[in-house]
Amino acid sequence: MYRLGLIGHPVNHSNSPDIHHFFLKQTNNNGTYRLFDLQAEELEEFLKNMRHSDLNGINVTVPYKERVIPFLDDLDEHAQKLNAVNTIKRKGNRLIGYNTDGEGYIESLNQTYPNFYNQINNQSILILGAGGAAKGIFYSLKSHAPKQLDVANRTISKASKMTNHYEHSQEMDLEYAEKQLDQYDLIIQTTNVGMEPNENELIISPKTIKENAIVSDIVYKPKRTLFLTEAERYGAHLMFGESMLWYQAAKSFNIWTGESVEHTIRI
Ligand code: ATR
Repeated sequence: MYRLGLIGHPVNHSNSPDIHHFFLKQTNNNGTYRLFDLQAEELEEFLKNMRHSDLNGINVTVPYKERVIPFLDDLDEHAQKLNAVNTIKRKGNRLIGYNTDGEGYIESLNQTYPNFYNQINNQSILILGAGGAAKGIFYSLKSHAPKQLDVANRTISKASKMTNHYEHSQEMDLEYAEKQLDQYDLIIQTTNVGMEPNENELIISPKTIKENAIVSDIVYKPKRTLFLTEAERYGAHLMFGESMLWYQAAKSFNIWTGESVEHTIRI
């Protein structure tokens, strides 16, 4: 019997309960996945109680990914590097923080485009955005040593903080990126531009992409964002945000239960 859940604010539109109930069923485990909508002042008390509760693990979402850290006993390498936690596991009465966002993205890339993934050393990649999600993806991709790993952001100083950490990496603004898209084999949209209810917003036009490039958007509501719709018109192969969502969830589920569920995912 696993007791799992999600903390954040707001959490009521989350897909995580459906995903983790699916994983519990696939692995013949009983369990629950509950939503805990917390105010900031409730966070410390919640985590203190969790140490002595029957909760096995929780996910952490906006706006608490960083704020939970002072209340945890240990962090894995990814959470430490990113200073952000999306998964907590209770071990006895200790709480350990993890971050599965970047590794979830890499796994979804590996499953969706294995040929690309196997030749990542020869690929040029552009990340649009320099927020928390972008950093997770950047850090995980960097460890696979792509030929080039550039970051374009509205605020260029935030992009430079990332690109400083990889020698084959350059920062740029969005206007410049829009003209240079033909340089890249994979373009990853990580900002919330185009997310419901602003689904008519487009971060940049994908007009100059090279044919057969992979274009990926981590926004999953709507599933087919305007950025992906446009990219497809110009000949791109697509990768949907839903895919990262499922694979990062699979990594959390593995941390809590030890079960591998990647093979059950159909996106
Ligand atoms: P997350 O954790 O979801 O990545 P975040 O840390 O708030 O969220 O980062 C949001 C990202 O979306 C940033 O790269 C932000 O650009 P800035 O660094 O310039 O703020 C980007 N973003 C948000 N709204 C945007 C918009 N209207 N146009 C361009 N970029 C936008």
